[in-house]
Order: sequence, then structure tokens, then C-alpha cells
Amino acid sequence: MIITKSEKETMTLAKKFASQLKGGEVIALIGELGAGKTVFIKGLAKGLGVKQTITSPTFVLMKIYPVKCRKAAIPLLAGLFNRVNPVKRKKIKYLCHIDAYRLKNGQELIGIGLNDWLSRSDVITVIEWADRVREILPKKSIKIRLNYGKKEDERIVEIT
Ligand SMILES: Nc1ncnc2c1ncn2[C@@H]1O[C@H](COP(=O)(O)OP(=O)(O)O)[C@@H](O)[C@H]1O
Ligand SMILES: [Mg+2]
Repeated sequence: MIITKSEKETMTLAKKFASQLKGGEVIALIGELGAGKTVFIKGLAKGLGVKQTITSPTFVLMKIYPVKCRKAAIPLLAGLFNRVNPVKRKKIKYLCHIDAYRLKNGQELIGIGLNDWLSRSDVITVIEWADRVREILPKKSIKIRLNYGKKEDERIVEIT
């Protein structure tokens, strides 16, 4: 359990979390409106090396972002650019961002081919409002619960 005291701290936490990912992970984000799910994904995307701006896909259901692996002129510098082992990072090609806010179950996601993305080892999938589509989450999903803290800009982050 980690308490963050600002949006920036949540972003930094998510960036660090991103550096541990190997590819193929499914991340289930749970927490009420304004808890910081999208903020977390923005940090995660930055950490992975997504160049595009992450926007909330509430009306789109699913957005796919390519992960750019910045090439360094000198191989040794690659690690600095990517902040993590560039060999590991090279494997992740896409970030799949899902917002299940308006869904009652996961059937619509299955219908648009979510399983094709979930099964890929070069994709990181992040699902906002994952508790609404619980039945389609793989068992190995990493659950991240975001809750409001005592103070206005405090958030309690639980990763399991
Ligand atoms: N510690 C914090 N971590 C994340 N967001 C925070 C924090 N403190 C305040 N905020 C604010 O809370 C809001 C979170 O919004 P957002 O990430 O869109 O929530 P969600 O996607 O869970 O509905 C943002 O306006 C952000 O600035
Ligand atoms: Mg959101």
C-alpha cells in the first residue's frame, strides 16, 4: 500500500511500475471516479515510452498506443533513454487502454476482439473500471486499487 500526495507522485509511481513490466501483463484498475486511474495510466504510458498523449477512452472503449523504443546511437545509452533494460523493453510493442465505465459486463469487449490483445506477449493491457468486467479478466491480472486518502490530493494505491 502506497500513499501518493499529488498527481505527480502517482505518475512517478506508475512510471516505476511500468519499468517492471515484461510484456503480456493485464492490469486491472479499480477505483471510483477521480481516484486517479487515468493519471496512473498516463504515468505508465510515459514509463513504457508511449509518445502519444493518453486520453480517456470512455466513448471509444479501447485505444491502442504504439510503444516507441527510442534508438540510441551508442548501445550503452539505450539503457539511459529507456530507463530500463532495453532488451526487455524491446518486447513491448503496444499499450492497450480500455475504459469499462459504461459497460455492465465484458461481452462487448470480447466482441471487439479484446482476447487477441490479452493473449499477446508484446502488449500491456490496462483496464479502467475493471471490476465491471470481472468475468473476462485473466486470472494472472495485476490488480491496482486506487482510493481517496484523508487529504484532498492523497490517494491510496494498492497493488496486488
Ligand atoms: N495523489 C493523486 N493521484 C492522482 N490524481 C490526483 C491525486 N491528487 C489529486 N488528483 C487529481 O484527481 C484526478 C484524477 O483523475 P483521473 O485520473 O481522471 O481519475 P479516474 O480515471 O480514476 O476517474 C485528477 O484531476 C488529478 O489531478
Ligand atoms: Mg479515467
